[in-house]
Amino acid sequence: MPKTMIEPFRIKSVEPIRMTTREDRVQLLEAAKLNVFKLRAEDVILDFLTDSGTGAMSAKQWGAIMEGDESYAGAKSFFRLQSVLQKLTGYEHIIPTHQGRAAERILFGVAAKRGDIVPNNTHFDTTRANLEFLGVEAQDLVIPEGTQPATIHPFKGNIDLGKVEDLLKREGDRVPFGMLTVTNNSGGGQPVSMANIRAYAELLHKYGKPMILDVCRFAENAMFIKLREEGMQDRTPESIAKEMFRLADGCTMSAKKDAMVNIGGFIALKNEKWVEAARNLLILTEGFSTYGGLAGRDLEAMAVGLEEGLHEDYLRYRLRTAEYMGEKLIAGGVGIVRPTGGHAVYIDAKTFLPHLGPQDYPAWSLANALYLEGGIRGVEIGSVMFGKRLEDGTETYSNMELVRLAFPRRVYTQSHFDFAAEVICEVKAKAEQVRGVRIVKQSKYLRHFAAEMAWA
Ligand code: F0G
Repeated sequence: MPKTMIEPFRIKSVEPIRMTTREDRVQLLEAAKLNVFKLRAEDVILDFLTDSGTGAMSAKQWGAIMEGDESYAGAKSFFRLQSVLQKLTGYEHIIPTHQGRAAERILFGVAAKRGDIVPNNTHFDTTRANLEFLGVEAQDLVIPEGTQPATIHPFKGNIDLGKVEDLLKREGDRVPFGMLTVTNNSGGGQPVSMANIRAYAELLHKYGKPMILDVCRFAENAMFIKLREEGMQDRTPESIAKEMFRLADGCTMSAKKDAMVNIGGFIALKNEKWVEAARNLLILTEGFSTYGGLAGRDLEAMAVGLEEGLHEDYLRYRLRTAEYMGEKLIAGGVGIVRPTGGHAVYIDAKTFLPHLGPQDYPAWSLANALYLEGGIRGVEIGSVMFGKRLEDGTETYSNMELVRLAFPRRVYTQSHFDFAAEVICEVKAKAEQVRGVRIVKQSKYLRHFAAEMAWA
């Protein structure tokens, strides 16, 4: 059997890529205030900004879209999705939302209050922002290996159970529930082991706290468990995913990731406790409880996508894509978060640009350099995203300075990745020329989206 792992699909419909020159990109980036979020997508050659909602749907999903029931209440499409999700999660209560952050806002709005503390391995930016908006403290308690880019560990997304227990002993009254993000996106797309999920659930339950999973990338996490955790090799990703869900009490999901759709999300809950209040809040801002801000056709595509996202051939290819890209970068002397995660490769900007300090926002500078060199759009996961400007004008910085190249599902082929690796290695060869940046204008929450920057 040849060693090359092929994309396990054929392409039926294509989208042309518009090529640009370096001169074009210099101007385009200036006009975008040195913020790649402000670029037009058509000015990007390879768009690795996110794996969220950017995937290609299958013929089967497009077929299901034609079956969407657009009734306002009680649509058939809702019951189809509900049935798929009840079987997968084992949870009775399914609340659709238009995307992940809506699920977060609604669940946190009914389950947490000012002064509370929520532990997680690492809160994603919208998760943290939705908690902080309510006056809740979001604590990141990932194991120490999870914040060391070069340290190899099979499950760098694991939560530090000792730290969680300390928190529960000291401030248990303030903890309404514990969260766990699978895979741990902000920490490098790193998986959490079944053993860690089980032990965390037991610990939370010992203190009478529910466990809520952020399951954006549950299928990728399940595949990592299959490949890396003892005793799991003969299980299907589906059976592993089912066990993960059953250990917890509920979840929030951005279906734009492992449910293989362009828009969608949900809350799923085992018990009734928060359900009624959440549905009431849903109706206030998202829509009636059987569509939650989505069209019936979106619910259909999600129902099919949840099953496709768990296919083993697909997941094997999916994880191999990041690994392949990682191998090319390591061979080119580029420091990355190791081992590679599921949906992305994270370049360590601190070692890529050692001449820049945190005040130069090295990961932001590197993201800009990759765009200028080859039209590649990645995203900074560093001090612009996670740092803060305090009232007195001083800045707090992030531990890690990463550029994430996140891979849309079923969109790019191996030669796209070969091209990207070449571009990155070319930037590496002249890294000392990359200048730092400074923030000219920023907002209080999620400042990276709208920040205006200038060269330092
Ligand atoms: N939780 C995690 C772990 C995420 O990665 C995301 C989104 C969300 C929640 C929020 O979901 O976007 O549907 O509202 N992550 C995207 C990304 C945006 O690029 O990683 P959403």
